[in-house]
Amino acid sequence: MRLTGAGLGLELAGSMADAAPSRTVPVITLDGLSGSGKSTLARRLAAALGWSYLDSGAWYRALTWAVLDQQADPKDEAACLDTLSHLTLDAKAGGEVLANGKSLGLALRTPAIDAAVSQVANHLAVRHELNQRMRALLDQEQVFGLVADGRDAGSVIFPDAALQVFVEVPLAVRAARRFEQYQQSGTEVTLHDIEQALAERDTCDLARGDAAPRLTARGRELKNQQHVEEAVGVLLSWVKELGYTPQPTQETS
Ligand code: DC
Repeated sequence: MRLTGAGLGLELAGSMADAAPSRTVPVITLDGLSGSGKSTLARRLAAALGWSYLDSGAWYRALTWAVLDQQADPKDEAACLDTLSHLTLDAKAGGEVLANGKSLGLALRTPAIDAAVSQVANHLAVRHELNQRMRALLDQEQVFGLVADGRDAGSVIFPDAALQVFVEVPLAVRAARRFEQYQQSGTEVTLHDIEQALAERDTCDLARGDAAPRLTARGRELKNQQHVEEAVGVLLSWVKELGYTPQPTQETS
């Protein structure tokens, strides 16, 4: 991955690692409610910039998968923390989360995980530990820039991010998109059930105090109802305003 451009307090010497004892890795965050399309946009933006991508929701899902796999109670903070202490999490190029070195793929996108993940994400100690681990990605040599998405990626995980975006989409549009994803994965659900489940998750996410999805004071709002290409175009124009030139790599899988 290569870093291009200037203007974000960059102190990185690229491949000249010896000459760069301290490095400041630029970060862009995209937050929004469930189904707002922020992950698609963040992945595309990261690929366009040649930066790494962090899907923070996938990390919460991976932990939830492990909690359920051990038949632990997602509402039990100590049990979740214990599970987390035995779990290594990493981001593959392209953003997919690796849990104990394994890719969980669609196993992270089941209704069972959807139902339990908010409970796991409610535990403050769990959030604290996951936040630390996500921030530690910036210490990895191969990470020259990071696009992170989530609920509190800009407000809590990376408050110094160069660009913070809040992706805003009405509930009905988000439900229709999620319905299509479920259909593609062969999961049988109704649109009505999805809309209801999303509304419940919104309520849960919005009740999460500091970690509730919101437009930060420095943030920019993206009303993501247009085609994905157009939305990525808007994001890239904001990135360019900061002095960066897109330089995509092949690492988009
Ligand atoms: O974006 P998603 O639906 O994959 O997120 C899964 C869950 O994780 C969602 O219920 C909220 C939670 N989450 C969170 O609390 N904080 C984040 N930064 C990302 C996700």
